[in-house]
Amino acid sequence: MEAKKIYINTFGCQQNEADSETLMGIAEAEGYVATEQIEEADLILFNTCAVREHAELKALSTTGQLKHLKEKNKKLKIGLCGCMVQQEHRKEDIKNKYPYVDFVFGTNKVSEFASILKAVEGAKKRLFFVDSYEENPGTICEGLPVKRRYPFRAYVSVMYGCNNFCTYCVVPYVRGRERSRKPEAILKEVAALVEKGCKEITLLGQNVNSYGKDLEDPIPFAKLLDDICKIPGDFVLKFMTSHPKDATHELFETIAKNEKCERHFHLPLQAGSGRILKEMNRRYTAEEYLALCDDLKKTVPGIAVTTDIIVGFPGETDEDFEETLHALEHCRFDGVFSFVYSPRVGTPAAALPNRIPEEVTKERMARLLNLQQKVQVENNQKLVGKTLRALCEGESKSDPAFASARSDSGKLIHFKKPEGVDLTGKFVYLRITEARAIQLFGEVVS
Ligand code: 5AD
Ligand code: SF4
Repeated sequence: MEAKKIYINTFGCQQNEADSETLMGIAEAEGYVATEQIEEADLILFNTCAVREHAELKALSTTGQLKHLKEKNKKLKIGLCGCMVQQEHRKEDIKNKYPYVDFVFGTNKVSEFASILKAVEGAKKRLFFVDSYEENPGTICEGLPVKRRYPFRAYVSVMYGCNNFCTYCVVPYVRGRERSRKPEAILKEVAALVEKGCKEITLLGQNVNSYGKDLEDPIPFAKLLDDICKIPGDFVLKFMTSHPKDATHELFETIAKNEKCERHFHLPLQAGSGRILKEMNRRYTAEEYLALCDDLKKTVPGIAVTTDIIVGFPGETDEDFEETLHALEHCRFDGVFSFVYSPRVGTPAAALPNRIPEEVTKERMARLLNLQQKVQVENNQKLVGKTLRALCEGESKSDPAFASARSDSGKLIHFKKPEGVDLTGKFVYLRITEARAIQLFGEVVS
């Protein structure tokens, strides 16, 4: 009998990407084969995101498009998993409005995917495997099969969940409390990846700086980094995401002394106004953040710093927003991921008064992007003439004559492909010839 084909579409963050790689690994171990062609799949799985409404609407509208595939192929099985369906109201939506979805399972059920697949194959009715984190706190399961998308880059989860309860954020509700993997398991996984030739390891967690605090033998995140860097081999070590309240000088020093640590730090600010930060329950002041960012840049010279900003949090005044712009001017970030505030069901901020009208958020967003564009061009201009090490990702998406690479500081660099050699998955040294806001151009230094 021909093997069944599975198609997985992933929405949202790197944690979802990593979960999908595990789901695919489990499916293959169960005899499925992966397909990129949705029309030929016997089983379609969407791994959904809930962090903003836009992500949910996209997952739902894409799910809507599956109805016609089901009409053509009655045997097709359609499933949804991930953060969106972990929410009770969304689970009910799927039950009531998407009758062609055959099965749904939550974020604490990834390790049970083999038995879910078996149940789905023989099922005559729809199956919903969703329970809250109060009922099922989510245990860590080691040794699951993983099908990695790239041979030269890998995600390695170091912890799951979040304890912070920022008032706008749905993550603590859909991913549960912080659970750290044992350091031995992480080190073993990274060593095996490096041994197989992997060149880029990204450690994942909602708040990596509180890694290890919940372990029987607690260890600081900085110590984990230090130990991973001792693994022999040529690789770059990345990690995300850091919460400023837990990012320490000790961590910055660890990065500075370990060449394997990437020269990039993602440090979400969210807002530059102390009052808004308080309303967000971020547990640092704007001044503390600016001092931390200064210390990071001083301790790790040349480090690229990026951030997340939420525009239009309830009650954000023009003065509050000016403080965000001020922080951006002070920190001169190398990248800003900016989001319009999106109310999330069940979070404290969703109940706050004084929602900001769309025309105001639009105008604020345009001002932020304008300022940031200028800063990034200025930052990147300083790199022209310098030589950077970068990991080649393959052919450039926009021009087949070019290849793209990511520097150790996270910069995207395009360069003319040398004839007759494929540099994909290899480190290259590139002299920067031209700089724009989000991309650089360079040439290979022989
Ligand atoms: N609305 C807008 N942006 C949000 N983020 C998290 N929750 C929301 C929300 N409700 C942003 C934050 C976070 C990033 C991953 O997504 O900036 O750091
Ligand atoms: Fe959400 Fe805050 Fe946790 Fe990040 S730290 S996942 S923003 S609650």
